[in-house]
Amino acid sequence: MAHKKQLITAPSVLSANFANMEKGIRQVEESGADWVHLDVMDGSFVPEITFGTKCIRDIRDVTDLTFDTHLMVNHPETMIDGFADAGSDYITFHAEATVHVHRIIQRIRALGKRPGISVVPSTPVESLLPILGEIDLILIMSVNPGYGGQKLLDFCVDKIRKLNAIRNESGFSYLISVDGGINEQTVDSVRDAGVDIVIAGNAFFTSPDPSGFIRRCRHGN
Ligand code: DX5
Ligand code: ZN
Repeated sequence: MAHKKQLITAPSVLSANFANMEKGIRQVEESGADWVHLDVMDGSFVPEITFGTKCIRDIRDVTDLTFDTHLMVNHPETMIDGFADAGSDYITFHAEATVHVHRIIQRIRALGKRPGISVVPSTPVESLLPILGEIDLILIMSVNPGYGGQKLLDFCVDKIRKLNAIRNESGFSYLISVDGGINEQTVDSVRDAGVDIVIAGNAFFTSPDPSGFIRRCRHGN
């Protein structure tokens, strides 16, 4: 049997209780997950508002987990410095939210952080072709962004497959991440498509066995 690639697991605290964020962080740590995914929503790019730099800075004080910050905000160029300073490791912004994609990638790197770019379900991955050699992470949204607990849109899995094929042919080294509707039933389809990082909010925080869930996502059995 072929050896299965280990995936990076990144629970999203969007599904944690915001009245007790430290408890949510401990649940992520105790599960053995690799990263914590931090969903920043501005009430403009998406309808909801979650948290900003102050919250991330406070979480930074209580954990050494890798911070995978996902900016669902308009005009991310105005916020990059703040989220870098707050302690993010990866900073992912949306291609649809700015015309200055390349400039933002350069800025994130200049700040010593790892740049990521995300696309919503209706945006083709071909729009990312010019910057594939510049980016560390591509986050494929597999639901329309804004809410946890939605159902994975199957057509988004093809985008992962495409990016994986391009990577194999080109020698680029970006990581492929998937966000939205990942659970024990859907994780195999994104694994087979070539994903590297799986983000899970609802399925992680409602699981009776978060460690088992993480193992299942990481190893595929
Ligand atoms: C949705 C967020 C996701 C969300 C995923 O807009 O970007 O990170 O937390 O949640 P689930 O896993 O519940 O679909
Ligand atoms: Zn997210």
